[in-house]
Amino acid sequence: MSRKLKIAVLANLKKNAPKFDDLSDDYWDDLDSEKTPEAIIAAIQQGGHEAVFYEGDLSVVDKLRANRPDLVFNICESHFGDSRESQIPALLEMLRLPYTGSRVLTLALCLDKPMTKRLLNWHELPTPAFQTFENENETLDDDMIFPLFVKPAREGTSVGISSKSIVRDEKELREQLRFVFQTYKQTALVEKYIAGREVTLGIVGNIGGFSARRLPQRLYGTRRRTPGDLDDIRAGGLLFLPPMEVDLKPYQQTEGIYTNRLKTELAEQITYLCPAPLSREQMEELNWLTAAVFRVCGCHDFSRVDFRLDENDNFKPYILEINPLPGLTPIISDLVIEAAAVNISHAELVNRVLDAAIRRHGLL
Ligand SMILES: Nc1ncnc2c1ncn2[C@@H]1O[C@H](COP(=O)(O)OP(=O)(O)OP(=O)(O)O)[C@@H](O)[C@H]1O
Ligand SMILES: [Mg+2]
Repeated sequence: MSRKLKIAVLANLKKNAPKFDDLSDDYWDDLDSEKTPEAIIAAIQQGGHEAVFYEGDLSVVDKLRANRPDLVFNICESHFGDSRESQIPALLEMLRLPYTGSRVLTLALCLDKPMTKRLLNWHELPTPAFQTFENENETLDDDMIFPLFVKPAREGTSVGISSKSIVRDEKELREQLRFVFQTYKQTALVEKYIAGREVTLGIVGNIGGFSARRLPQRLYGTRRRTPGDLDDIRAGGLLFLPPMEVDLKPYQQTEGIYTNRLKTELAEQITYLCPAPLSREQMEELNWLTAAVFRVCGCHDFSRVDFRLDENDNFKPYILEINPLPGLTPIISDLVIEAAAVNISHAELVNRVLDAAIRRHGLL
């Protein structure tokens, strides 16, 4: 074990979020309840370090200056702005404090789904065809064939996503675009709707040192998976958690997708299949894609990549997004469920993320 460190856990609690009259009910669903930082603190203490919690708002600057931690465990989503998840990391870099997880550019990039998809396209990594809309009157491109899927460009926890996100004609498209603009006041992302299974893969650790934003080394230039790549990536320090499938069959009539309602109200009732029933080949492909997205986006320490497997094309995997700050709520967060499937407790998962950051920052 590394030396005893002083860790500050920074999160944004839902109960401390700003309140306005016209906020939708799901507006702050990406934020945490007290349970999450409490469990993270208990885990860090179990790991032999000191830990204290601070709300990740502007008051944190004085607190961090007064009580300089050795490392910050950051899970702040922040509240406003097109790069909100980067704001606390930017402050931490100004304060010259090391922190867990991905850095400023990566967090800003991955929050913005269209920007991330442009990067994935450049690397020839599969993501659904898409178009962005800045207003409801823009013309739909000819190659965007219904059914399509409409979502806000920069949200998480399926904020703004319901069965109405699947649009089957121009009228439904325009209605949903209007809803996104009025409610979330941001660009709308319209994607090809991928009918099929829903799988998410978590990883913990790092590949290589700096975030070079390129494919894993041996692949650079070939852009193809070659035998032995995954072994190299594992040996380099990346742990692949088993893929988790959300069993959407009981909700086929009501939603058919992983909506905000399922992630919040019904989170404890859903059946999660973990490891998801997949062939060895499919698993390897998904693991490789997960590592590749992690690497090209420049992620650190942990992440979760969401996929849909296209039932109309031999279950070809499509990358929906990467979450460089995946939820760490005990029991219900996807990453926590995946870890549990290989007997990694919440506390151990937290300590693995922490250790990845400790090693990366040379704090051993
Ligand atoms: N193109 C698509 N085709 C089919 N379903 C989709 C598509 N895009 C999103 N979905 C559905 O909506 C859900 C949420 O989408 P996405 O993962 O992009 O949102 P999110 O709010 O960022 O999620 P997270 O909670 O993982 O942060 C997906 O898990 C999937 O069920
Ligand atoms: Mg998602």
